[in-house]
Amino acid sequence: MPTFESRGITVEPVEKYLYGLLRPRDDALTFLEKDAEKNDVPIVGPMVGNFLSLIATSCRAKNILEVGTATGYSGIWLGRVAKQNGGKLTTIEADPSRVKIASKSFRDAGIADAIEILTGDARKEVPRIAKSSAGKFDVAFIDVGDKSLYVDLLEDCVKALRVGGFLVADNALWKGFVASSARDRDTATIQEFNKKVYADDRLLPSLVPLRDGVIVALKLKEK
Ligand SMILES: C[S@@+](CC[C@H](N)C(=O)[O-])C[C@H]1O[C@@H](n2cnc3c(N)ncnc32)[C@H](O)[C@@H]1O
Repeated sequence: MPTFESRGITVEPVEKYLYGLLRPRDDALTFLEKDAEKNDVPIVGPMVGNFLSLIATSCRAKNILEVGTATGYSGIWLGRVAKQNGGKLTTIEADPSRVKIASKSFRDAGIADAIEILTGDARKEVPRIAKSSAGKFDVAFIDVGDKSLYVDLLEDCVKALRVGGFLVADNALWKGFVASSARDRDTATIQEFNKKVYADDRLLPSLVPLRDGVIVALKLKEK
């Protein structure tokens, strides 16, 4: 069975070392980590969860947007920061059965009052949010299962962010395929996404080779 440590980009002993440094998680997160390994749910895991928490905390995030809730694992890391700062996490998930599990996860984590789950297609929800709440979000985290959406969602996520907020996207190294000549649709989209983020002078980006690669970009200006 694949473990978090065997799924990273760097060599396995280094992955193991990095995971070994992490602080123990509480019951709500530990339950979802075990559930993800058992049921093959593609959650970010504790190393990226910890990183998301750091980014959100560093910009005192109150309003956080997440695209791709799954069972609520990354949402707990982000939602806890939002709640602590008196704000909320808005998270989008297309699969109603996962929404049900995520709602329970947020209750178990004691943060249900700081979470809004939107059940629906990110292709519809993200443009709607970008229009109604432009510049409102401190963090926008893209982790939608359909990787071919990354490029389509980029502009609206940047629009939704305030200046000084962070765009974050998981799987930016896509198991290393981005560096190969693989030309499947998901690899090509993530390559294009990374290129666009680095070319956008509204953003100050860094692609961090953490687990499957996390791209982080600070929004510097509106235009
Ligand atoms: C990688 S998982 C999210 C993992 C979660 N961020 C975590 O780390 O705990 C991606 C999720 O995106 C959802 N998804 C796929 N296509 C979608 C779409 N078009 N709109 C909204 N959600 C979608 C999938 O159902 C899946 O639960």
